[in-house]
Amino acid sequence: MTLSWQSLPRPIIALSPMADMTDSAFCRVVRAVNAEAGMTPNQTVMFREMVSSEAVIRGNDKTLGMTALHADERPLVQQIFGSDPATMAEAVRIIEAEHHPEGFDVNMGCPVYKIVSNFNGAALMKEPERAAAIVKAMKAATNVPVSVKIRLGWSDPTDALTFAKVLEDAGVNLLTVHGRTRMQGYSGVADWEMVGNVKRAVSIPVLCNGDVHKAELITKALDVSGCDGVLIARGALGNPWIFRDFTAIAAGETPPIITLQERIRIITLHLALHCEQYGPESVTTFRKHLSWYFKGQPNVKSHRERMMTVKTREELESILNEMK
Ligand SMILES: Cc1cc2nc3c(=O)[nH]c(=O)nc-3n(C[C@H](O)[C@H](O)[C@H](O)COP(=O)(O)O)c2cc1C
Repeated sequence: MTLSWQSLPRPIIALSPMADMTDSAFCRVVRAVNAEAGMTPNQTVMFREMVSSEAVIRGNDKTLGMTALHADERPLVQQIFGSDPATMAEAVRIIEAEHHPEGFDVNMGCPVYKIVSNFNGAALMKEPERAAAIVKAMKAATNVPVSVKIRLGWSDPTDALTFAKVLEDAGVNLLTVHGRTRMQGYSGVADWEMVGNVKRAVSIPVLCNGDVHKAELITKALDVSGCDGVLIARGALGNPWIFRDFTAIAAGETPPIITLQERIRIITLHLALHCEQYGPESVTTFRKHLSWYFKGQPNVKSHRERMMTVKTREELESILNEMK
């Protein structure tokens, strides 16, 4: 399968990269929900959680394992982070040889101290020359598209206007803009209008990111920003139906109601895929997903509390079955 950002049907709807969340199991759940709704793979692009370019080139098996992908996840874009152009290019070569993702994305938006203090993530927005060198080195290392995910700026929300041009000139194929600065972290609201200004400053496709928490908001984010598509992060956690729901809304239909039975069916599938990926003992690392799946759901408090203490897949499945 090949990915061309220019020719993908509009709007482009994509799952945003989220560390510890958008792993292979989660991407497969989204694909399963989409397929049941009759959607084709190109209607949603998966962005896999970030991996460290340094860990990849050091031969860290766990990190390289995080880039493994199942055929039904494609098209899939692997995000990497780092600040050394040669290391980023080598990481691309290694991941491509092993797993052949349809694209690579660079994290230039992560605000977390541990990342920016090593000159990674959003810190690259303060170093446009280095950022351009990373893109050029990665482009020379692969024939698949290279995209970059940025914020509006470090502290000035107009930084992205010039930074985006630098990346475009370096040859980047697509940009995602999270409508907040690094200094904002997750506070305030994402500024979709400002994201639109970035879109109009370049001629490559741009995706709008930030606060698209419900399928109903996708059209609004597209209207306000004028972007080619959206990248959805927290709105997909515990809600792999969001992409299917948008397809229904775009077709003028009402999305199907997600019953408790349906929720439990998909959680059970997710749990099975999670255990397939991480082993039968991995129920404790599945708890984070349970919190999202049951967030705001009525009458589940006591079951939810019990689920948070279980140690085995069988115990968890038995509580889920009780709830049906
Ligand atoms: C748990 C979590 C992990 C994240 N990990 C990444 C990551 O690996 N790479 C990245 O570019 N952004 C990461 N982000 C940021 C999201 O991709 C997204 O830009 C941000 O949450 C805003 O979008 P939203 O309002 O749709 O959540 C993460 C966000 C969350 C909540």
